[in-house]
Amino acid sequence: MNIIFMGPPGAGKGTQAEQIVHKLGIPHISTGDELRLAMSQGTPLGLEAKQYVNQGLYVPDEVMIGIVRERISRPDSKSGFLLDGFPRTIPQAEALDQLLVSLGKRIDLVIYISVAREQLLDRTTGRRICKECGATYHIRNNPPKTEGRCDRCSGELIQRPDDNEQKVATRLDEYFTKTAPLLKYYEQKNLLQQVDGEQDIQAVTGQILSLLRD
Ligand code: AP5
Ligand code: MG
Ligand code: ZN
Repeated sequence: MNIIFMGPPGAGKGTQAEQIVHKLGIPHISTGDELRLAMSQGTPLGLEAKQYVNQGLYVPDEVMIGIVRERISRPDSKSGFLLDGFPRTIPQAEALDQLLVSLGKRIDLVIYISVAREQLLDRTTGRRICKECGATYHIRNNPPKTEGRCDRCSGELIQRPDDNEQKVATRLDEYFTKTAPLLKYYEQKNLLQQVDGEQDIQAVTGQILSLLRD
């Protein structure tokens, strides 16, 4: 199964992907996570990405398409993949279509996790992530057992530099101008399914799993 998760910043794409990929045995390809890893390692990609990501702006299409082309071509994507945060623009979607044709694959399903704009600020500014393993928490909605420590690995929980009010406003603008038009792109291809991302985390997972069973 080749799946895409779409949704605005803070919709729960990463949270749901963590639940789903274990059940399906496919890799979770988060372009945001790939960029944050490159930034923390200080690679040339990381240095280029930093100027955009930390401002809440999109990284140029060519860079993102290159990352995904390399990632999808790896052996672990043979049996399927879950894309989280890519494509985010029409040119990225078109490049993905071409890439998949050349690999003899296609997208099976695009799941749009919808959450009203008013909730997204709370979701993002309240988020904490584990510095070591990347696990995601929320100070109120999904708190760790011990404050400031990861349940999984005891790593330190930190806030993403782009999770403050001003950067989130920029990210939402980027999303609504550049990414929201993609919903129509996939709707026209008959691939789009919507889930209500305002339910609790388990209920959203349940709805996604039922779509995958259909
Ligand atoms: P990325 O990391 O993908 O950020 P994003 O799209 O803004 O999405 P988030 O990761 O913020 O949200 P999410 O939907 O994963 O929510 P989560 O599950 O964490 O990208 C970062 C940056 O990289 C971009 O801004 C851009 O600069 C660059 N980039 C990446 N891909 C790119 C591309 N293709 N092109 C160009 N640039 C690109 O949940 C959020 C919070 O809510 C958590 O605290 C969680 O615990 C909580 N929560 C989750 N679900 C629920 C629920 N059901 N109820 C209550 N709380 C919940
Ligand atoms: Mg995410
Ligand atoms: Zn951890």
